[in-house]
Amino acid sequence: MMRAARITGIGSYLPSRVLCNAELERMVDTSDEWITTRTGIRERRLAEEGQATSDLAVVAVERALVDAGLGPADIDLLVVGTSSPDMILPATACLVQARLGMSCPAFDVNAACSGFPYALQVATSAIEAGRASRVVVVGADALTRHIDFADRATCVLFGDGAGAVVVEAAEEPGVLGIVLGADGRGADMLRIAAGGSAAPATPERLAAGEQYLTMNGNEVFRFAVKVIPAATREALEASGCSVEDLAWLVPHQANQRILNTVGERLGIDPERVFSHVHRTGNTSAASIPLALDDLYTSGRLAPGDLVALVGFGAGLTWGAAVVRWTKARTTKEM
Ligand code: ACO
Repeated sequence: MMRAARITGIGSYLPSRVLCNAELERMVDTSDEWITTRTGIRERRLAEEGQATSDLAVVAVERALVDAGLGPADIDLLVVGTSSPDMILPATACLVQARLGMSCPAFDVNAACSGFPYALQVATSAIEAGRASRVVVVGADALTRHIDFADRATCVLFGDGAGAVVVEAAEEPGVLGIVLGADGRGADMLRIAAGGSAAPATPERLAAGEQYLTMNGNEVFRFAVKVIPAATREALEASGCSVEDLAWLVPHQANQRILNTVGERLGIDPERVFSHVHRTGNTSAASIPLALDDLYTSGRLAPGDLVALVGFGAGLTWGAAVVRWTKARTTKEM
């Protein structure tokens, strides 16, 4: 008999260093008014000096394990979705695994801002195939390390953070359906050119700023408002559900205007399209689990609620997961 998977614990972490729009006004030619009207973002968090992606992930995983009532030794697979690993190798997951005293297999998944649905698919498949029973799925990114804080087109958008869930084998399914997609023809739309094997980070490339993230914002916007509704509908269909059944749509927190357009296109009450982008900015793979934890921690998720988690990002990639929430309301603090 096919085994099912459900989320039994969640935790997240936002660094304490706040970067608000007023501070950005002093760094580049921008304004609080431009940033809030075009993106909805008012502040974002930056990893402290010396704080790497694994440091953010470790706290999120510790919190998720406490929430699930489990310890590190109980986990048999750790998957970290990230596109800002501590270093090219080893995988950030191995650093997290060692820090927490885990002994399970550990690896990273790089699907940029779609990292969480992709990693959740790995976890769910492993559980359904009987290869694992308790999996920790992390979305963690410190993308601001790859941002040029003299480039107003990108520096106002991104923030750092981490979120994690524990996924366990269960009789009743909690993760109902996941759809993933990629279109590598859009690889140039959003990228960090230097630092890999194609263009090692030579002094010349660093001097030219090729280690920084570049983006065709308009094209990515158009892609997002098309792919999020389509992926949401597809995942709902795969789960035997419809848009009307959703208690919450939890989209990747990239831009409030994207969230508004997506809500309209899906015909969902704006109150049901979760957003806290005003205080996080775009935290890439961390975005969805951070948002889900905010919903849970603030008592807005009830057992039985149907939630769609939808990401899009560099690659281009996208992914949507439909989840039946089964945990009781919590009063834990984020
Ligand atoms: N402050 C002031 N003016 C600015 C700023 C800024 N920070 N940034 C750009 N501008 C200017 C531009 O130079 C342009 O000026 P011009 O008309 O004189 O040429 C004007 O504002 C309009 O620029 P647009 O790029 O057309 O602005 P737009 O309304 O499209 O908003 C934005 C730009 C916010 C980037 C939007 O396109 C967007 O959100 N795109 C999606 C981005 C996204 O979701 N990325 C994450 C993907 S996830 C991942 O994998 C990492």
